[in-house]
Amino acid sequence: MDSIRIRGGIPLNGVIPISGAKNAALPLMAATLLSAETLTLRNLPHLVDITTMANLLASHGVALHMNGNASGQACGGRVLELTTAAITNTTAHYDLVRKMRASILVLGPILAREGKARVSLPGGCAIGARPVDLHLKALEQMGAKISIDGGYVDATVDGRLKGAHLVFPQVTVTGTENLLMAATLADGETIIDNAAREPEVADLANCLIAMGAEIEGVGSSRLVVRGKDALHGATHAVLPDRIEAGSYAVAAAITRGSVTLQNADAAQMSALIKVLIAAGVEVEDRAEGLWVSAAGRTIKGVDVMTEPHPGFPTDMQAQVMALFATAEGASMMTETIFENRFMHVPELKRMGADINIHNNSAIVRGVAKLSGAPVMATDLRASMSLVLAALAAAGETTIARVYHLDRGYERLEQKLAACGADVERLRD
Ligand code: EPZ
Repeated sequence: MDSIRIRGGIPLNGVIPISGAKNAALPLMAATLLSAETLTLRNLPHLVDITTMANLLASHGVALHMNGNASGQACGGRVLELTTAAITNTTAHYDLVRKMRASILVLGPILAREGKARVSLPGGCAIGARPVDLHLKALEQMGAKISIDGGYVDATVDGRLKGAHLVFPQVTVTGTENLLMAATLADGETIIDNAAREPEVADLANCLIAMGAEIEGVGSSRLVVRGKDALHGATHAVLPDRIEAGSYAVAAAITRGSVTLQNADAAQMSALIKVLIAAGVEVEDRAEGLWVSAAGRTIKGVDVMTEPHPGFPTDMQAQVMALFATAEGASMMTETIFENRFMHVPELKRMGADINIHNNSAIVRGVAKLSGAPVMATDLRASMSLVLAALAAAGETTIARVYHLDRGYERLEQKLAACGADVERLRD
């Protein structure tokens, strides 16, 4: 398994191109299952999770044609053509699903188009149990018969799914996406209340509208969908990755450097930007990109609570904790979305961070300097937290199990090295 070696203490300066968003690309790819015509996605990031989703879709009979560069140039990305002339297999097998929880996103589309679907339960992951009960209850409300058998979700519906008034008791991003896709082919009108408002949900809705779906309330917590008999093909560009952009914004802040994030969309990042500015970071939305600088600045800890969008994103909690571990003063960080998303804490403490966990809150007391150490990645965003800490730490850090990083960060070493970081990948 590869690891990454970083020698810290170098302020980052330069330009980082932001790629297409992983968490938009995955549901967008699943949307091909809703139509027999070709869906063309542009600005697709080059990530392991994208390859996993492509393999899963191919197992359902989707024809995929990838072209365009994988260079990750700003809004370059890759172009992927997906065509599902027919769904030849309605079962999503465990060996594929276990690699990526977002595989559950094929359930709604396959059920809506074929009237039956058998999808392996994704199982938990490092950050929590990650149940999909809300997806299943909502599909049952639309007329699906659902049973759990041998670790698989077995779903069938007589004829078509029926439009329904769905109210999610808790905001669920992929739950909203699954049901939004299913509703586009249902018979009648579906209302989704307490829908997730993440930008990736709006990106999916806009793509579905381009495919002929009738959706109102895009970006709001109430989505209204009038079902169609079929959707047609479309071309859609994946929106920029706000979490990748936020992660590199923290890289600039933690190294006290100045970085321009090319193609980042500040409007999707307002909660994070507010926290960074309160901590003493300079942030300016410029023509050439989002400029983030902490050169010569004193950075101080700020209290943070994760919330569904437009609140502070849980996917940025670990990264910002690394920043506050090196800031002046203390910060209380409360994780309200997942039950076990502090896996980065023990590793940060091995680098000298002063962090104490109380239930779902962590008290972070800034220290003058972290020190490099061998550490272990555990999940995608925790791994990025360790990379960020290593960039600021004195000495050398080796991060093991970086396959976690490859799931969500395209060309990480190249993008950091282009800004002066001393980083290299050690291949086992
Ligand atoms: C999406 O996961 C993202 N993944 C996650 O990003 C992100 O952290 C999360 O949303 C929250 O923003 C993708 O979009 C592919 P949820 P998702 O359903 O949809 C509970 C990353 O790092 N819940 O919004 O799986 C759940 O346990 C990943 O890129 C149920 O109880 O998250 C959690 O506590 C990590 N029952 C909360 O809701 C359900 O049926 C929010 O989960 C569904 C969810």
